Amino acid sequence: MADDLLQRLRVHGAVPAHVAIIMDGNGRWAKGRSLPRPLGHHAGMTAVREVVEGSLAAGVGVLTLFAFSQENWQRPPGEIDALMSLLEEYIAREVSNLRSRSVAVRVLGDVSRLTPGARRAVERIVAETAEGRKLALNLCISYSSRSEIARAARQLAEEVAAGRLDPADIDEEAVARCLYTAPWPDPDLLIRTSGEMRISNFLLWQLAYAELYVTPVLWPDFTRRHLFEAILEFQRRDRRFGRVSV
Ligand code: FPP
Repeated sequence: MADDLLQRLRVHGAVPAHVAIIMDGNGRWAKGRSLPRPLGHHAGMTAVREVVEGSLAAGVGVLTLFAFSQENWQRPPGEIDALMSLLEEYIAREVSNLRSRSVAVRVLGDVSRLTPGARRAVERIVAETAEGRKLALNLCISYSSRSEIARAARQLAEEVAAGRLDPADIDEEAVARCLYTAPWPDPDLLIRTSGEMRISNFLLWQLAYAELYVTPVLWPDFTRRHLFEAILEFQRRDRRFGRVSV
């Protein structure tokens, strides 16, 4: 159904190794249909399935999704409950498919704040998909990039205090190894849906050289076709990493 685009991006150039997505617009999608907001989040689950399948088809190695920020804890309790239940539902529904598709799921963020049910579900999916080799699927939940960086600073300070690290050896690599994302390369492409031009405390360190792609499409309407369009646009970009073009 999106095979035409898939063929094009395969001949067009390199596929980004790591794609990060700020999934935005669930609330507006629901409002536009006079539905309660949680139904927008529920519809957003289909789009998550779409981008996982699309990433597998395109050969993306790492997909990092911003599902719930630390700031989102300030939303009304009913919406938070709905999001926690949705996370459990997503995991119950998808775990066997993700495992059979060789997807390894990891959860980045302060999981200690999740409801016990959501925490158990998260532990289950991480354990049951640990052998996945085709795609690393990182779900950022109760995630804040500034907290992640502060946590890394604390960890380095503890290593210095324990005499295991010389302050002179604190460089970019040392910080990066203390971030949740240590096992993976930085994102090459950041997609944000719903037209908002913000980073919203997401992967501030890791996005230093990512290509930014903002689409007006609301998250529940996002399909693998939209993912392939974003990758095609990425392939047209001239990435210089601060140097001049060759
Ligand atoms: C932002 O839309 C979206 C969220 C806060 C939740 C994202 C959750 C999902 C996509 C559901 C399924 C995902 C998993 C991994 C279970 P918003 O509510 O801020 O939208 P608005 O800006 O239009 O109000």
